Amino acid sequence: MKDITILGIESSCDETSAAVVVNGREVLSNIIATQIQLHAEYGGVVPEIASRKHVESVIPVVDKALKEANMPLEAVDAIAVTYGPGLVGALLVGLTAAKALAFSLGKPLIGVNHIEGHISANYIAHPELTPPFICLVASGGHSHVVHIEDYRKPVILGRTRDDAAGEAFDKIARVLGLGYPGGPVVEKKAKEGNDEAFRFPRVKFHDEPYDFSFSGLKTAVINTVHQYKQRGEKIPTEDICASFQKAAVDVLVQHTVEAALKTCTDTVCLAGGVAANAFLRSAFAKVCEENGIKLYYPPMWLCTDNAAMIASAGYFAWLHKDFAGKDLNAIPGLKLGENLT
Ligand code: KG4
Ligand code: ZN
Repeated sequence: MKDITILGIESSCDETSAAVVVNGREVLSNIIATQIQLHAEYGGVVPEIASRKHVESVIPVVDKALKEANMPLEAVDAIAVTYGPGLVGALLVGLTAAKALAFSLGKPLIGVNHIEGHISANYIAHPELTPPFICLVASGGHSHVVHIEDYRKPVILGRTRDDAAGEAFDKIARVLGLGYPGGPVVEKKAKEGNDEAFRFPRVKFHDEPYDFSFSGLKTAVINTVHQYKQRGEKIPTEDICASFQKAAVDVLVQHTVEAALKTCTDTVCLAGGVAANAFLRSAFAKVCEENGIKLYYPPMWLCTDNAAMIASAGYFAWLHKDFAGKDLNAIPGLKLGENLT
């Protein structure tokens, strides 16, 4: 079969990204213009600022991705773009650019679910990886345990009932005055701390055993910080970060591995920004080894938001000829699997 080259565009949150990917697995370029510094002073993503910055960056980022791939625009087979979930104004920028490119060139347009993109990052990182597998998607907006029965058949087994895992890292960092985004800095502080200093809650729902809840954990951490403040004592930041991280990782590992064992699936994949956490990776490695489960995760650059993963997911849609029309719209609350035919 002829090679299929997809230009991917991602703008769902605070990264503007474009990538050129062949056959869903080989990355020729992956350009990311991050807005993290811009939002850091506000302690989180400001949607209006994000949209404006995407407008400035999207065309230069696409140009750069094509240039780095040494590929004229006319040579791509299709354009894949994130159309949800995410911030509506941010999504619309990438979507509008993708539509304009696709329809002016007469190439197919493919709408990609951002969460599906995160899962696809594993196909890029591991050419031998094929479904079925269980995937933990843990990012700033999502925490899902998904049974990937086939490339386009994700079955959600568990989800968060309140905060996402990454969101909990971000909120804990904010209350400790560590800045944004919280994940990397909490992980760094945790390395210097004792993860048994505090016993923070680990929530399990017996009706839905793979569901998560991180709001009780977050509140417990915030209350602990406030108690130190009220007493005028020095806050043991490192110990709090280590104990919080351990509590969050314990449930992520436990629910994911239980889902793999229950569904007799011998492979687990990690995806999303939180999968960049080295403590999480090593906790998974240990438990997966004990249970005879193969573990895959993408390298750091494919864990956080990027367009290569969107182009990869777009390839599997291309194989199904699942193309979008001119009426493709941004869907901020798009659910995983909702878009698949
Ligand atoms: O996947 P992503 O880039 O964007 C979303 O789709 O949300 O994930 C961003 C999230 C943020 O909440 C960030 O704090 C978290 O991933 N994150 C981490 C780490 N690196 C990023 N969380 C824990 N440990 C990390 N090293
Ligand atoms: Zn993401």
